[in-house]
Amino acid sequence: MTDDTSGTPGEAYWDARYAQSERIWSGDPNAALVREVSDLAPGTALDLGSGEGGDAIWLARRGWRVTATDISGIALDRAAGHAAAAGVADRIDWQQHDLTESFPTGAFDLVSAHFLHSPGMPRDEVLRTAAGAVAPGGVLLIVGHAEQPSGDHSHHPDVHFPTPEELLGALGLPPGEWEVQVSGEHERVQTGPDGLPATRVDNTLRVRRLGLSLSPKSEGSRPR
Ligand SMILES: C[S@@+](CC[C@H](N)C(=O)[O-])C[C@H]1O[C@@H](n2cnc3c(N)ncnc32)[C@H](O)[C@@H]1O
Repeated sequence: MTDDTSGTPGEAYWDARYAQSERIWSGDPNAALVREVSDLAPGTALDLGSGEGGDAIWLARRGWRVTATDISGIALDRAAGHAAAAGVADRIDWQQHDLTESFPTGAFDLVSAHFLHSPGMPRDEVLRTAAGAVAPGGVLLIVGHAEQPSGDHSHHPDVHFPTPEELLGALGLPPGEWEVQVSGEHERVQTGPDGLPATRVDNTLRVRRLGLSLSPKSEGSRPR
């Protein structure tokens, strides 16, 4: 199913994916988010492709004020329900956007995109816009798959999975204005389609926009 207007998967495609089951993802925050964000003082965060809300809810629980956005209304409704159950509904602003067409306004201390892969989506373009939404002193965290899952090419048949170096080049960040804090691959064990544990290789790019943070708290202080 595709969005008739763009030829790339849109709301209908992702709604159909989410409608297949009451829960697609685990509900846990992504391990890379926990690893990379635990040392940051809470401020404002933007979660791109927020899915069922595991990352946004984890951030909100740690004191971040979160804007979470996804193309799928089903995912957003589901995520908002989980946030209410977790008691953090007032800390998360859920916004529906096709990020190839519109983008949340504002500047954020953290802009996070985890596994924002979609067939035909101009991902580099979306992530360049994401970099523009990072406040001075803020962090852009992009975590993605490094390769197709073995034996499962159904969901992302034509998706290119860039190395962190390729991604950094594609972002075209102005020299002298950003610091590369993390750029590398890591392995993650997940349950495969056959129910057995499978190892996947993901990659992480964490870059910080130089400048004074807008947040009153400094990096390194303990979150609430
Ligand atoms: C692989 S899922 C990852 C979900 C979540 N970040 C996670 O790690 O569990 C990709 C998400 O991106 C969303 N998405 C895909 N294309 C999008 C677009 N053009 N604009 C906004 N969200 C999009 C999908 O609806 C889906 O929730």
